[in-house]
Amino acid sequence: MPSRKMEVEMILVMFASLLAAREVDRATGSSKASSMPGSPHNISKNDTSLQTVVLSAVYSFNNQSNDAFLFRASVIYRAQRQVVNGIRYIVDLEISRTVCRKRDNNNLSNCSFQPAGYLHQTFVCHLEVWQIPWKPQSQTLELLCKP
Ligand SMILES: *[C@@H]1O[C@H](CO)[C@@H](O)[C@H](O)[C@H]1NC(C)=O
Ligand SMILES: *[C@@H]1O[C@H](CO)[C@@H](O)[C@H](O)[C@H]1NC(C)=O
Ligand SMILES: *[C@@H]1O[C@H](CO)[C@@H](O)[C@H](O)[C@H]1NC(C)=O
Ligand SMILES: *[C@@H]1O[C@H](CO)[C@@H](O)[C@H](O)[C@H]1NC(C)=O
Ligand SMILES: *[C@@H]1O[C@H](CO)[C@@H](O)[C@H](O)[C@H]1NC(C)=O
Repeated sequence: MPSRKMEVEMILVMFASLLAAREVDRATGSSKASSMPGSPHNISKNDTSLQTVVLSAVYSFNNQSNDAFLFRASVIYRAQRQVVNGIRYIVDLEISRTVCRKRDNNNLSNCSFQPAGYLHQTFVCHLEVWQIPWKPQSQTLELLCKP
């Protein structure tokens, strides 16, 4: 049953790019070294690139979970962006089970959440995504979720 309590702690690390980033650093040399890294600052929860980042994290979550249903973001508590050797997003969010079954291949944005009850489930997640725009294949995604 998909409803059984999942004591899941998921850590997804995709396209691990630490090495790639160091290479970029070396390759671009002084121009990168001279730019001061900014500190994280709050961004709007409606920010389009934030929504893209959250969506790709949710796709990863769904891909890695063996739940019969799709999950999607239900609340975004905190969203920050930091410019540091690329762009880093730091997001605290909740993701919740929807009524859409994975096998039906639904458009996630059309899926409503499970009503309160047996199938209702929410994870509290911390997401960090680090994008290196000049190297589009290079993105680190870390998603840590707890029931
Ligand atoms: C975000 O979008 C929603 C609806 O699209 C709107 O009601 C809300 O005011 C927006 N919030 C911000 C911070 O722009
Ligand atoms: C889902 O994960 C598998 C390996 O775990 C990977 O091969 C596949 O490309 C992923 N699919 C998507 C849509 O991310
Ligand atoms: C950033 O957002 C968080 C959560 O929305 C809030 O608690 C915090 O006060 C904000 N910080 C600043 C500097 O606005
Ligand atoms: C999503 O919902 C819209 C409007 O409710 C509908 O027109 C569209 O066909 C739906 N898309 C999918 C993939 O189900
Ligand atoms: C899903 O639906 C939304 C709005 O209904 C649309 O903007 C988006 O392009 C659709 N995505 C896919 C993959 O069909």
